[in-house]
This record gives sequence, C-alpha cells and structure tokens, in this order.
Amino acid sequence: MRALVRPPSPRLADGLLTHIDRHPVDTDLAMQQWDDYVAALADVGWDLIEVPPAPEHPDSVFVEDTMVVHGDRVVIARPGAPERRGETAAAERTIRDLGYSVSAVTQPATLDGGDVLKIGKTAYVGVGGRTSEDACAQLADGLGMAVEPVPVTKVLHLKSGVTALPDGTVVGYVPLVDDPARWDRFLAVPEESGAHVVVVDDDTVLMAASAPRSASLFRERGLNVVAVDISEYEKLEGCVTCLSVRLR
Ligand code: GLY
Repeated sequence: MRALVRPPSPRLADGLLTHIDRHPVDTDLAMQQWDDYVAALADVGWDLIEVPPAPEHPDSVFVEDTMVVHGDRVVIARPGAPERRGETAAAERTIRDLGYSVSAVTQPATLDGGDVLKIGKTAYVGVGGRTSEDACAQLADGLGMAVEPVPVTKVLHLKSGVTALPDGTVVGYVPLVDDPARWDRFLAVPEESGAHVVVVDDDTVLMAASAPRSASLFRERGLNVVAVDISEYEKLEGCVTCLSVRLR
C-alpha cells in the first residue's frame, strides 16, 4: 500500500472554515500531529510519498482534496473553494511521475476529493457543497466506475459525514448526514469524528483519538483500531481521511 501525504503549511491556522467557528490552532502541535499521523500509516506498513509542500496554501495538508484515485486511474480535482485551486498542480505532477493515467475535472464543474467515497465498484459523490453535480459524469469517465450523487449540506465534505468500514458498512454521525437511509447497511456512531475511518486492511481502521466510543463500537465488531490525535486539524474541518490519498 502506498499513500500520498503533504506537509502542513506554516499558514495552516488560516485554513478555510465553513460549518464551524474558528478556534486557535497550535501550529507546533499540528506539525507534531502530522508527523504522528504519517508514522501511524508507516507503522501499518504503508509507503508514504510526499507531495511537495505548498506553504502559500493554508489547507494544502488536506491533500485528499486534490484528486481521486481508482486502480491506475486518477482524476485531478477542481476544488470548490477558489482559494484552494492552486493546490492541485504539484499533486498532479507527483501522481503523473508515479505512472498513473490522469484526467482532470474541467470548469465550470468543481470537485473536492473529500466528497468522494468509494465502496466496491461505486463512487458516492457528495454534491451541494464544494462539489457540483456536473462533476459526476467527468468523474465516472475518468475513473471508469459507477458514480452516484448524494446530497451534502450539513458538513464540509461527504466524508466529513460518512465513511465505510472494511466490510462496506457505512458509518455516520446521524445529525450530520443528509440521508442515512441512502445506504442499506448504515451504522450510526456516537461521535462526529467516529464517522471518519481510513480502511487499513480487512481487519483494521485508522481513526481519530477524539472518538473513543465509536472506536469501542468498531472493536466490538472485531476490528483493530489505530487511533491518532489530529485535534488541530479537526479545528479546520479536517479528518483522518483528508490528510492522505490512498493509492488503491
Ligand atoms: N479547511 C478545509 C477546507 O475548507 O477545505
């Protein structure tokens, strides 16, 4: 397994906020938490590839938003926030250098990678926030997979509200999910950040330390849980998912 990561900008504390109030970000702690996040991915056996830093872009650490990967195909995003559009160029160069087949979302469509949740052969795409409905057809063409739009109005990205466990069960924090009935297998979790899991393998998820009750729920289902503290990124509407691009 390989994943892309991108070192935080020194201007991280100026990151965009949409649904939450601003709280001071401890940039030194954020740097340490990023090192710990990367170390946690390395500990579970992943090779990490760094996208060159973009110090002028406060939100650039959230590298997942720059692209969507499926097998050997990549669609470069066109971020819904104009302030973030400059983040994609270096990310695209990095993934091209790795030999991937690359296409890109074209205007006027917009798409943030954090709005795309792949489960099996389907990509669910959150529309209504940063991602526009007209990006869906472009994504389907570029990835060669089925795409289903779902509404997102209560959180920044689709994956701020729901992700999926290794067995495909969708996990979500109901107050922030527009349509929980959208998924046949849906597990409500008791904490907002409990809805954010990175699937490591069939038996293991990585998630935020801020969701201990959700972690217990997952352990009761037989999963191993790797927890990382990403408190400073949570203040910027970031999750464990948006801090990396898993190449799979
Ligand atoms: N702070 C993350 C974003 O708004 O994209």
